[in-house]
Amino acid sequence: MSKDFPARSYAPRPRKTAAAATAWEKPAQWYDNLVGAEGDDFYQKLILPTVLKRLDPKPGQTVLDVACGQGVLGRVLAAKGVKSLGVDASPSLIESARTRAGPLEQHAVGDARKLGDAVPAGTQADHAALVMCLQDLDPIAPVLSGTAALIKRGGRVVIALTHPCFRIPRRSLWGWDEEQGMQYRRLDGYLSPLSVPIKIHPGKPEDPTRTTSFHRPISTYLSALGGAGLGVIAADELCSHRRGTKGARSAAEDLSAREFPVFLVLTAVRLG
Ligand SMILES: C[S@@+](CC[C@H](N)C(=O)[O-])C[C@H]1O[C@@H](n2cnc3c(N)ncnc32)[C@H](O)[C@@H]1O
Repeated sequence: MSKDFPARSYAPRPRKTAAAATAWEKPAQWYDNLVGAEGDDFYQKLILPTVLKRLDPKPGQTVLDVACGQGVLGRVLAAKGVKSLGVDASPSLIESARTRAGPLEQHAVGDARKLGDAVPAGTQADHAALVMCLQDLDPIAPVLSGTAALIKRGGRVVIALTHPCFRIPRRSLWGWDEEQGMQYRRLDGYLSPLSVPIKIHPGKPEDPTRTTSFHRPISTYLSALGGAGLGVIAADELCSHRRGTKGARSAAEDLSAREFPVFLVLTAVRLG
């Protein structure tokens, strides 16, 4: 074994899934401020336009917004005359969503892994969205089967994720190849699932607030969608619009920003 590449174990760590469901309650105010009324520039330029394009909802239709947070998607849908029903485990984020909501936006506190218990009996939405949340949920099979059960046959499910191939917590990072004059993306693992505690305030080591991010290879997402009776019809890989330094490396940095997507948006339809 080379001493440059010591053997490492990628064995999955035990998952604290119950705690993960409620972990967003503590940083709810921070998250509400971060997203604000319309989302940050990633939401406004990349995520929300792609989710809207793929949902393609018509005025009067209803979208189930799974793990809706403080309701950023519901507000954009309402502006287009589309109704939404948002479900989230954090009571404070649901309260923030309700504070900003108009008549087309409904919300419920509940666990995305038991959606049937969270929504009113008889709920049947046209489409569903899971925006930047499936990587916070574990296990995902009940989330996807519960979502499929609450939409009409032929309805679309649009899922926006941090890209599971190129943005893997603790396993992916940028590097600089001096000889080639190129920025590269280094991956230290990919296939093994991983649960990673994410510090909400990394600059404050004394602050214990953490959420959990679950890394899974892309095959896990695709197979879970199929297992829930959802057939993938489109995939969008979104590259960052942000540009870095104006220094000597800026051209190489721009090239890699255009080459390595930061988000993956999967669109599926309910088959059965
Ligand atoms: C990164 S936020 C995304 C929120 C929202 N979709 C958005 O785009 O702003 C992840 C959300 O997942 C929610 N969440 C985590 N586990 C959950 C669970 N088991 N059931 C419902 N919501 C959950 C959190 O409360 C949080 O609002």
